[in-house]
Amino acid sequence: MLAANIAMIVVVITNGVSLVTLQPLIDQVFIAEGPTARVVVPTVNLVFSMKKTTLFLGLVLFFLTSRALYCLGLYCQRFLMMVTGERVLTGLRTDLYDHLLRLPPLFFTARRSGALVSNLTADLGVVQHLASTVTGDLLRRPVEIGFLIGLLVAYNPSLSLFALLVAPVIVGIVNILTKTIRRRAGRMQSSMADLADHLQETVGGIRIIQSFTAEKAAAGRFHSVARRYYEQSVKAYRMMAAATPSTELVTAAAVAGILFYGGQNVIAGRMTTGSFFAFMAILMATYQPVKTLVNALSESSRAAAALERIYRILDERPAVTSPTNGRKASFQKSIVFEKVSFAYPDNPCEPVLQDISLTVQRGRTIAIVGPSGAGKTTLLSLIPRFFDPTSGRITIDNVDLREWDLVSLRRQIGIVTQETFLFNASVEENIALGRPNAAPEEIRRAAEAAHILDVIEAMPEGFRTVVGERGARLSGGEKQRLAIARALLVDPPILLLDEATSSLDSESERKVQAAIDTLIRGRTTLVIAHRLSTVRNADTIFVLQNGRIVESGSHADLLQSGNLYARLYNLQFKE
Ligand SMILES: Nc1ncnc2c1ncn2[C@@H]1O[C@H](COP(=O)(O)OP(=O)(O)OP(=O)(O)O)[C@@H](O)[C@H]1O
Ligand SMILES: [Mg+2]
Repeated sequence: MLAANIAMIVVVITNGVSLVTLQPLIDQVFIAEGPTARVVVPTVNLVFSMKKTTLFLGLVLFFLTSRALYCLGLYCQRFLMMVTGERVLTGLRTDLYDHLLRLPPLFFTARRSGALVSNLTADLGVVQHLASTVTGDLLRRPVEIGFLIGLLVAYNPSLSLFALLVAPVIVGIVNILTKTIRRRAGRMQSSMADLADHLQETVGGIRIIQSFTAEKAAAGRFHSVARRYYEQSVKAYRMMAAATPSTELVTAAAVAGILFYGGQNVIAGRMTTGSFFAFMAILMATYQPVKTLVNALSESSRAAAALERIYRILDERPAVTSPTNGRKASFQKSIVFEKVSFAYPDNPCEPVLQDISLTVQRGRTIAIVGPSGAGKTTLLSLIPRFFDPTSGRITIDNVDLREWDLVSLRRQIGIVTQETFLFNASVEENIALGRPNAAPEEIRRAAEAAHILDVIEAMPEGFRTVVGERGARLSGGEKQRLAIARALLVDPPILLLDEATSSLDSESERKVQAAIDTLIRGRTTLVIAHRLSTVRNADTIFVLQNGRIVESGSHADLLQSGNLYARLYNLQFKE
């Protein structure tokens, strides 16, 4: 930062000083008669007497040196500012990512991912611009303008006053324009976010779109979003394009006025030709930093808005936090739901779970069944504390989940969900998600136990094969088994299993079933069952309807009582 400031001072001084050479150059070398010349540098009040040719060469050399110094200083200042900006940004970017990782799943469901990504990218871009260039301008330009105005006044106070009167007019115009530009650019950015959203959706849902031959509808929606973006951008560009010409016009009028007034001074002999041209050159040189400063001021307010949005995300507290000095021991006895109710925050009056009480002893398997939308997935997601109950409590070994250290709690739990999410990484990395340092041999054993080893070995690069975003290269059953291998590798005492509803062919089904059997063995399992064999093997079945447990017992008992379970069984499980 110190180096950048030194570079800045060099830039400011050399820039002004190099223009001062114009005056002696014109007055003494080009115009004055006789073999010697007197050089008056007004700001320093020095008088030289020299041979004309020496003076000429000296002035040219002085101009060149000061200009070269100016360029060097400018280079150093810019480079240092950019690097500083990038450093600030890298910090902010990683902080933001780390923070996003800790936000509750609901934060993301409430937002469109395309918009989140594109807004964050745009905001970070604005801040980056601020940090790398705008800050430099905000620091350098006022000093530069002050120095140049000093020079102007030294040359001709009355002409300076005249020139400076134009400044407020330009500032006013720029101010009005930038306000409009900012508003329109904001609309443009939100249209861009819509576009990004749409594109992301299409990439994710291309098979669905094609299979429903919905290309036309998708294209139609995209075209209208694209057209809206185009219209917004035309509006914004209309203002952006007007910014420079309108200030140029005012400046041109001012320059004409100065030419007129100053020219008369020269004719009347109150000012030398050289002074006049040097004055004009310095005035022109002042105009640029004034423009940049006004611009930088308006950009910094834009950046302030962007920073505010970024900090709003950084201030977003994780809904679920780990207690300080939380319990770290491992699961021993039982998981108990005590009169648990839950409503999603976006719909607090509509409880999804009501008055749930159930107990799972260590080593047992309980199955949860019920119609779609009954709250089964929600019930399981309370255990790793993706959300906390609205009332009641859940305990593990008689300790409220909220008193457990969050990391150690989640380490106890393995989750296999309805949909397997695979990262765009190798098979190996995907299996080792929960234990990145697992030995290759362990990963292999997990794959074998999950009945997926033969599939992996048949892949072109075995465990190193990249499975592609969303696991596009794996079948549904293979993906499920890979998810099971993932859970097996972590070897958690508690297992939450949300069986996939999509039906597989019998061969694939058999393999998934075998993998699940291996996974369940020796663990405490809560399973949302869609398979007959899973419900049959469960120690207790809980039937969930509209967020309440309406029945519980063994498969045989429940069948016999002939209630909801019996009906579901006939519809869903009977093979
Ligand atoms: N993120 C959410 N925000 C608000 N409401 C939600 C959210 N997720 C689920 N719900 C609502 O909660 C209710 C229960 O959903 P849940 O996913 O638990 O059902 P489920 O029993 O798992 O159904 P399925 O068998 O179809 O998977 C539904 O009415 C659903 O609309
Ligand atoms: Mg579900």
